[in-house]
Amino acid sequence: MISKRPIKICPSILSADFANLEAEIAQLDPSLVDCIHIDVMDGSFVPNISIGIPVIRSIKQVTNLPLDVHLMIEKPDRYLSKFKEAGADRITVHAEASLHLQRDLSEIRNLGAKAGVSLNPASPLSLIENVLENLDLILLMTVNPGFGGQSFIPQMKQKIKDCHEMIKNHDIDLQVDGGIKLSNIREIYESGANSFVAGSEIFQNPPYNEVIRRMKSLIGT
Ligand code: DX5
Ligand code: ZN
Repeated sequence: MISKRPIKICPSILSADFANLEAEIAQLDPSLVDCIHIDVMDGSFVPNISIGIPVIRSIKQVTNLPLDVHLMIEKPDRYLSKFKEAGADRITVHAEASLHLQRDLSEIRNLGAKAGVSLNPASPLSLIENVLENLDLILLMTVNPGFGGQSFIPQMKQKIKDCHEMIKNHDIDLQVDGGIKLSNIREIYESGANSFVAGSEIFQNPPYNEVIRRMKSLIGT
């Protein structure tokens, strides 16, 4: 079930020091990471409020890494162009939060960004099987979204395997987000994921690049 796609490590700045974001991001070796994962929360779709458009605009000024923006917000169509203008290179919406998912994904691509869709742990893959042609990325939540530092939900391994099978003939990254640690990244990789979001495991265990190097060595690169 190992993915043939390139392995990607995506540090989630949700666990970084928000008072020193520029310095935190500067510590990441661009040759080791694929992007900066940015979690946007609206306090309604998820029970937390994080960062938004002005902060993304500022981050864009201090890094050349692609910005991977994970929108945990209701009716994301209201803000897609604003996030693109602020500097998002990839925009991921939740299938559960979008009223017209196919339209939203098409709009993201029309804006010039990569289009992603995310599913909460309880949501079935069937929610997205009709939009595979519109996708560059599937983000499977492996915790319930809203907070960093939670534990990986074990039954998500089967969902990752099923998703890997579902997209085998498509050019789509399979990203996992939530509870990704040095201790479990290998088995999650073996389930078929190729893109790994990690927040607390990286930002709570400096030096960050050392954690990322160890993650990559555990999955064979
Ligand atoms: C949670 C966010 C994650 C979060 C992951 O809703 O989507 O990106 O930062 O944090 P860890 O890696 O600590 O589980
Ligand atoms: Zn995320």
